[in-house]
Amino acid sequence: MQKQKPLLIVFEGIDGSGKTSLSRMLFSYLQEKGCDVLWFREPGDSQWGRKIRELANLKDSIPIDEELEYFIKDRQWNVRNNISPNLKQDKTVILDRYYFSTACYQGARGLDMEEIIKKNTTFAPVPNITFIIDVDVDTALKRIKLNREQEVKLFEKKDFLRKVRENYLKLSGHLNIHVIDGSPDLPTVFDLIKNKIDRALPD
Ligand code: TYD
Repeated sequence: MQKQKPLLIVFEGIDGSGKTSLSRMLFSYLQEKGCDVLWFREPGDSQWGRKIRELANLKDSIPIDEELEYFIKDRQWNVRNNISPNLKQDKTVILDRYYFSTACYQGARGLDMEEIIKKNTTFAPVPNITFIIDVDVDTALKRIKLNREQEVKLFEKKDFLRKVRENYLKLSGHLNIHVIDGSPDLPTVFDLIKNKIDRALPD
């Protein structure tokens, strides 16, 4: 294999879209091809990432500015500790969520999407390829298999995820973004992703 060009590959989509499974499938595929590749997710393992996960289990949401600050701080930590050092060593980095999640989720809570992207690109490298795995909200929720206790929040969640999905679709004109129909089975969706990646990598 020729010396690979380091790639920053991002998977995005609403909860239940299949992005985590697909990003892991790509990670294994590239490893089998002999690529030096790493996989990280956001929110990450920083103190802020852990805090976000704790807060996600609570009923009430925190003020939006505070929420934004935690996601940004967690990302700054991820860029400093995981993303930039590995790209500098010519490794390929796969991310399960990145700053487009902040644009679309915190955007759905009322913040300006483009402002969020601008703020993030002052410190976060721009991805070479971003896959937005697009599924409708009903399909996504069926996949998450919401249990009875979560049913109370279902309506709220449904409306919120609809907004998030709309926000993702608004990003389709951005640089290097591919919107992928995530409704077929995973191997079919993965084939589409593999084709795009194979074109971006040397044999
Ligand atoms: P998710 O990837 O779904 O984590 P898990 O696999 O542990 O369920 O991310 C958790 C939630 O955080 C998800 O609902 C999306 C949200 N999120 C934001 O609102 N903004 C962000 O910037 C990021 C990275 C995630």
